[in-house]
Amino acid sequence: MKRSSNLKLVLFFASITFVLTALVVFTWERVIRDPFFEWVEQRYPGEANSLTRLNIQQRVEHFTISIAVDVVVVTLLLRLVNRQQRRLVESEERYRALFEHASDGIGVVNAEAHRLTEANNMFCEILGSTAQGLVGRDVREIIRPPGAAAAAAAIPSNGLAELLEGNASGETETVIETADGAARPVSISFKTLTTEREHLIILIMRDLSARRQLEGEREEMQRQLFQTSKLASIGELSAGVAHEINNPLNGVINFAQLLKDEETDRSDFDRQMIDGIIDEGGRIAKIVRGLLAFARHDTHEMHRIGLSEAIKTSLSLFGRQLDKDNITVEVDVPEDLPPLRADGSRLRQVVLNMISNAHYSLRMKQPKGTEGKLFRISARRVESGGRSVVRIEFYDNGVGIPAGNIGKIFDPFFTTRRDVGGTGLGLSISFGIVRDHGGTIRAESEAGQFARFVVEFPADEKEGADG
Ligand SMILES: Nc1ncnc2c1ncn2[C@@H]1O[C@H](COP(=O)(O)OP(=O)(O)OP(=O)(O)O)[C@@H](O)[C@H]1O
Ligand SMILES: [Mg+2]
Repeated sequence: MKRSSNLKLVLFFASITFVLTALVVFTWERVIRDPFFEWVEQRYPGEANSLTRLNIQQRVEHFTISIAVDVVVVTLLLRLVNRQQRRLVESEERYRALFEHASDGIGVVNAEAHRLTEANNMFCEILGSTAQGLVGRDVREIIRPPGAAAAAAAIPSNGLAELLEGNASGETETVIETADGAARPVSISFKTLTTEREHLIILIMRDLSARRQLEGEREEMQRQLFQTSKLASIGELSAGVAHEINNPLNGVINFAQLLKDEETDRSDFDRQMIDGIIDEGGRIAKIVRGLLAFARHDTHEMHRIGLSEAIKTSLSLFGRQLDKDNITVEVDVPEDLPPLRADGSRLRQVVLNMISNAHYSLRMKQPKGTEGKLFRISARRVESGGRSVVRIEFYDNGVGIPAGNIGKIFDPFFTTRRDVGGTGLGLSISFGIVRDHGGTIRAESEAGQFARFVVEFPADEKEGADG
């Protein structure tokens, strides 16, 4: 291919030279020759000068023709070379720009030495470094899983090692450690490339963080949706049952109360029985109220509420008991958070239940080293799903929630505290309340280590608070 195009070029120039020579000779003959010859004859007249004249005429003729042809051909040649060079520079610039601004990270690796020879902007960005910091280094040292020692020998199998052993191409999804020590999910595809002079590996790397985060958010949303619809149907059923129970129950309590109030002599046994009916009836009434609260879709008492205030009030009710049990309480709720649009008493009910759950869980925990028992409430304003929300986290390092239970804790009547009077309604009611406020609630935990409840309420970004 190359040889034939060279031959073409030589032929082209030979014909150009031929044509140009003909042209120059023609011009010489027609335009310059006669006046020049005349001038020489005048200058060197007579028979004695005939040899000198011939010499001068012939030499000037040869000289002029060859110089003229040379100048024209060389100029043409130079222009051609220039144009080719410009094209080459332009194409190099275009490919460089494509390479540098590609939306995927591209790295070029020398296959023998495993050294990175080139890296584009995105490649550096994904690895959290600069081209100077990466080029020249062993690629197995740069692209390594989190926690792996920074030595080429320590590369665990992330697919790269096999490639470097000579596989032609491949693709792998893995997690790598960036220059600042963070873990980043990436997909890497590789291809070997052999040119005349070198054996290269082209690495194409894509950052999967955003996609992973989206997947995580979608999963979380589906989980919430499932939880919400499950609880909605339980809620409807239990509200129906609670309604049905409420009236006869009030009847039972009222009748027992009438018996108690009746002025007659009763045996101790009778009095105990009547009190028992009233107390137990009261307990059922409390459960029924809880169920109704869980099922209630009630959003009419909405005000602009400062979260910090609501938390302070709730803590003041419980603070002493937490103190008594040596629980350290940390509150990290900035005063300048946007207010929430909420029903104050229902919001406090959520906070109180969180405190009460953490309190119980921390009490269950055996004192453990110097770590101590910690309950922390923190809140931040964040963007979630395109809107401004206040995210409140309730964290305690108590007994935590076993993995098998975490999907059930929001179900009404799920409790592990039945022996101490737990009804299993606290979290269901909280769930209902948060839902009615257009928020979300979820739990994270590691059994034996901690429990964290993350509650998000939509923020009311308008100026000033009114409640
Ligand atoms: N902070 C926490 N740490 C460990 N487990 C928790 C925590 N909060 C809730 N749980 C678990 O979730 C279950 C349900 O909690 P929920 O508040 O709904 O009911 P309860 O506290 O058991 O009873 P109630 O609140 O009705 O008195 C608890 O029994 C417990 O197993
Ligand atoms: Mg509770």
